[in-house]
Amino acid sequence: MSQLQAKPGVEKINLYEGGLATLKGASNVVKLSSNENPLGPSQLAIEAFRNSAFNLHLYPSADHSALRITIGKIFQLSAENIICGVGSDEILSFICQAYAGPGDEVIHTEHGFALYRICTLAAGATPIEVTEKDRVTDVPAILNACTQRTKIIFIANPNNPTGTMISLEEITFLADNIPSHILLVLDGAYVDYIEDYDGGAKLVETRTNVLMTRTFSKLYGLGGMRVGWGYGPKNVVDNLNRIRGPFNLSGPALAAAEAAVQDQHYIGKCRSENNLLRSWLAKALAECGIVSDNSMGNFILARFRNQEEAEACDEFFKSKGIIVRRVSSYKLPQCLRISVGDRDACERVAHAVKQFKAGKA
Ligand SMILES: Cc1ncc(COP(=O)(O)O)c(C=O)c1O
Repeated sequence: MSQLQAKPGVEKINLYEGGLATLKGASNVVKLSSNENPLGPSQLAIEAFRNSAFNLHLYPSADHSALRITIGKIFQLSAENIICGVGSDEILSFICQAYAGPGDEVIHTEHGFALYRICTLAAGATPIEVTEKDRVTDVPAILNACTQRTKIIFIANPNNPTGTMISLEEITFLADNIPSHILLVLDGAYVDYIEDYDGGAKLVETRTNVLMTRTFSKLYGLGGMRVGWGYGPKNVVDNLNRIRGPFNLSGPALAAAEAAVQDQHYIGKCRSENNLLRSWLAKALAECGIVSDNSMGNFILARFRNQEEAEACDEFFKSKGIIVRRVSSYKLPQCLRISVGDRDACERVAHAVKQFKAGKA
């Protein structure tokens, strides 16, 4: 008798490791392991969420039209080309399910976001890892890796966990030079931290094979609500909608996201505060001999002398109630990813690093 077996690829998936959320026995813990907005969402989003409690007996909108239209107005995009998902994670998964299967290849970069590999294997396709150049996406290397079997290229710009990004010119060059049977996905989870950058929306509008993803989990402070969106050519978005569960987003999630995106004044304040504290923290770390690349997101990838020192610092952080993210699963064992917290959290990190270095150097 044949045995029950998962599809090929499924057992190759290493479970996604989320950032630690608690420390046993520690009080006054600060969580800097999941790139959340320390200031939380807009008050308008909280209010909309509260009000949605009166409609819990109703099914939510199946076409998300109110949220899509609002996103469209704020970012000057066509609502028809927008799809909403349970986090941008779900959009990434739809993309793999719709466009890649057994025998197909899906490209991601060396230190690219873990979900690309997971979604690729779940769809039965083969992940192809392309090297980066000093922790930065390498466009010529990606072009070299493209074959007849390549169906999707995933690029996070800025990337997590490196925080680095490539220019719009480089992205455009990539889009111009890939074969038209490949879908280029520009993951814009951290685009909102960059003022006056559209995340590649114009490229989407002028190509048949480019799609951008965005999220409410980072700058918008709604990681717990699970709302993300994609912007792509109509036929691609239609295909993703065909495999989307009709009620994938709950009423409270839709209401909170719709209110959050309208409060651009608050978003601007969060962006400025993050970017200011990010520079301050990077400088404080550098003064202790811990270098980092210029991060464009809400985190810093701190580089230590070696893995041993990174792990020792992580243990020291924990002893001080500070949770950061180890990134050895991203092939960066000598690094720790530290989310930019509020001012107090950044000061605690800087102080702890100073103490750590003073004790160890
Ligand atoms: C690069 C990148 N893409 C996508 C996501 C997924 O975010 P969400 O599913 O919360 O929208 C994350 C989350 O950390 C990320 O870092």
